Amino acid sequence: MNSHDPLAGSPAALKERIAGDLERSRRRVHALTACDEEELLKQHSPLMSPLVWDLAHVGSQEELWLVRDVGGMAALRPEIDSLYDAFEHSRSSRPSLPLLDPADSRAYIGEVRAKALDILDRVPLEGSPLLEAGFAFGMIVQHEQQHAETMLATHQLRAGEPVLHAQPLDPAALGPRTAELPREVHVPAGTFTMGSSVEPWALDNERPAHEVHVPGCWIDTVPVSNADFARFVADGGYDRADLWSPAGWAHRQRTGISAPGFWRREGGQWWRTRFGVVEPVPGDEPVQHVSYWEAEAYARWTGRRLPTEAEWEKAARWDPATGRSRRFPWGEEEPTSRHANLGGAALRPAPVGSFPDGASPLGVRQLMGDVWEWTSSDFSPYPGFRAFPYREYSEVFFGPDQKVLRGGSWATDAAACRATFRNWDYPVRRQIFTGFRTARDAAAEER
Ligand code: AVJ
Ligand code: FE
Repeated sequence: MNSHDPLAGSPAALKERIAGDLERSRRRVHALTACDEEELLKQHSPLMSPLVWDLAHVGSQEELWLVRDVGGMAALRPEIDSLYDAFEHSRSSRPSLPLLDPADSRAYIGEVRAKALDILDRVPLEGSPLLEAGFAFGMIVQHEQQHAETMLATHQLRAGEPVLHAQPLDPAALGPRTAELPREVHVPAGTFTMGSSVEPWALDNERPAHEVHVPGCWIDTVPVSNADFARFVADGGYDRADLWSPAGWAHRQRTGISAPGFWRREGGQWWRTRFGVVEPVPGDEPVQHVSYWEAEAYARWTGRRLPTEAEWEKAARWDPATGRSRRFPWGEEEPTSRHANLGGAALRPAPVGSFPDGASPLGVRQLMGDVWEWTSSDFSPYPGFRAFPYREYSEVFFGPDQKVLRGGSWATDAAACRATFRNWDYPVRRQIFTGFRTARDAAAEER
């Protein structure tokens, strides 16, 4: 472990931190399922599981890794294992499974949690890769938080009256939003450290740390806004095949998309539906619910391109003063509401140009939180990758079908977000909280 190991301290303090993280994710999952039973059983979209599936699935993963593997205990309910195995049943088929009902799901995840906390109490958090620094517990915290974000995407797709209520963003944290922010930031050519071998809860796909040479580029200071994107729409961006890649254009033709997800044009202006509320599209928010293909077409419309994953990470982490890579754009400390819009309470991204305290050393803003950002990179293993602890987390997804997303969204919890964290999805997907920023090559002499 390195000197600024965030989990350094006494074993008791680490256990306390883990118990707190588990408690926070569980509170969130309960809040996202505190609606009518029929809302939980319904399939709001074939792209998503019914909420009741996610509810019991988080317990099932926790049982598998913490109760059975770490704790060495027998299966609580062996007959339900396969129902909650994401690889056995597609999302669209899950409503027809004999799932636990909501009350039984809550009872089940509660039983699992009680056992997991007993195990946390008695096992030493060292001595094996799974136990070291509480990795298995950290993995389960991140898993539950990832499903909480997925459940928010399900909520966004449900029809009917709102059931979720937003907390306002901290106005002090948004900072003075100035028009004078430079449009783009120069990322000098050179080598930087990508990924991590020391971050205690880094997942397998973030490892190991390795040196990458990145040619010089320029990257947007802030994510592309709704107002920016509306100009692309108004300029006929969705009807100009020359702006789209062949695969992107085929997708556009097949689906007939003509604006970001959840947007509607009426009375000469753009409206959106956000968790059941219809409201004018705010121009100064990062655009979200765009597919990779739309992001790519927008970038081409501006004469630019999407950043590669390495460019994104270098812009986020590389400190020219030390030559080192940081855990977060602002440094080593865990995110707070001064740094980024995370955790899901806001139900929306913060205006572009917010969070001066969250800027990277090069001055790039809003890299963490607000919206996941499409990169032009396929999801692939770093040199020296080893699947850990199971192949189905990352390895089975590597390849040209999945594009890398970086930075986390407003719906991501801080526990599942850092400058090395890698997310991925199919390029057609836009139900997730995804936007993007653009980049361009630096001039030949700067590359
Ligand atoms: C990393 C968000 C793509 O939701 O498919 C949850 C996370 N893996 N359960 C997903 C995950 C297993 C994963 N993503
Ligand atoms: Fe899962």
